[in-house]
Amino acid sequence: MDRYNLNSNHHQSVMFDEAIESLAIKNNGIYIDATFGRGGHAQGILDKLGADGKLIAFDQDKSAIDYAEQNFKDTRLQLIHSPFANMLNLLSEQKLVGKIDGILMDLGVSSPQLDNPERGFSFNANGPLDMRMNQNSGISVAKWLTDANEEQIANVIYEFGEERKSRHIASAIKKFQAKEPLQTTLQLANIVSSIVKIKNKHPATRTFAALRIFINQELEQLAKTLEQTLDILADKGRLSVISFHSLEDRMVKKFIQKHSKQRQLPKGLPIKNNETEKMHLKDLGKSFASAAEIDNSRRSRSAILRISERIC
Ligand SMILES: C[S@@+](CC[C@H](N)C(=O)[O-])C[C@H]1O[C@@H](n2cnc3c(N)ncnc32)[C@H](O)[C@@H]1O
Repeated sequence: MDRYNLNSNHHQSVMFDEAIESLAIKNNGIYIDATFGRGGHAQGILDKLGADGKLIAFDQDKSAIDYAEQNFKDTRLQLIHSPFANMLNLLSEQKLVGKIDGILMDLGVSSPQLDNPERGFSFNANGPLDMRMNQNSGISVAKWLTDANEEQIANVIYEFGEERKSRHIASAIKKFQAKEPLQTTLQLANIVSSIVKIKNKHPATRTFAALRIFINQELEQLAKTLEQTLDILADKGRLSVISFHSLEDRMVKKFIQKHSKQRQLPKGLPIKNNETEKMHLKDLGKSFASAAEIDNSRRSRSAILRISERIC
């Protein structure tokens, strides 16, 4: 089959067994899949839920929601086309704040997004340089690279891609644009490849990841949503996050650490029975994909699953 088949809808869920187990699914619980994708994890959750259980699934990509509507006929599943950072607002409309038994976040992009050249995520196939997960909002990478100056471009590639050649790349982008518009994925991949020389990886890997993270505001979305989970989760509700990028994982790790450590409060505060600040989360640790899964899926190599539990 053509790897770039536009109709390809397959996404192999990463750390499937570990993620489903981490949620400790209760028969009649209410769960959230913040990143539906092609619904592999969602199906795993539905399979464990009883008749009165409920799964609320978010995806900001309309094609994921369209796929779900066509392929998931399950009355226990509610689909929401929205960035997951709207979770608290949308759940409060349904009076479900504080009642959620588990939230799964499987971050980043899905294979159908990556493999469809029209979406502009891939440095291997030519297509418009878009990279928006939600094509109904925001601007494409091509438009941003046209509007931004050299320093802004360099900063984004350095900050979100940890790419040491960011300044050279930004300068080459502006030189290219002085001659012709930069509009396609392969134009950008070729510019980066003329500067970055690395083995075992496409030279444009870090630059594409940086621009994708920036244009989709992935770190802001994650930071906002993590904070919201403290209100959203019920007592003993689980938060399971699979991340693929060191910046995301660091954010999840710090969030869990911050809310799972008992800190001594400064002296003089009017607390009677309790000398320490209350913890909000219990850290249940992290895990990685098995060697067998890594053999089968390159993407799982960088996956880290962090699990925590709400303590009310
Ligand atoms: C790695 S895939 C999830 C795959 C899914 N777990 C499965 O088993 O098929 C990530 C999905 O999350 C969506 N996504 C990423 N960031 C999002 C956000 N901030 N809000 C809503 N959806 C998001 C993407 O559009 C993509 O469909």
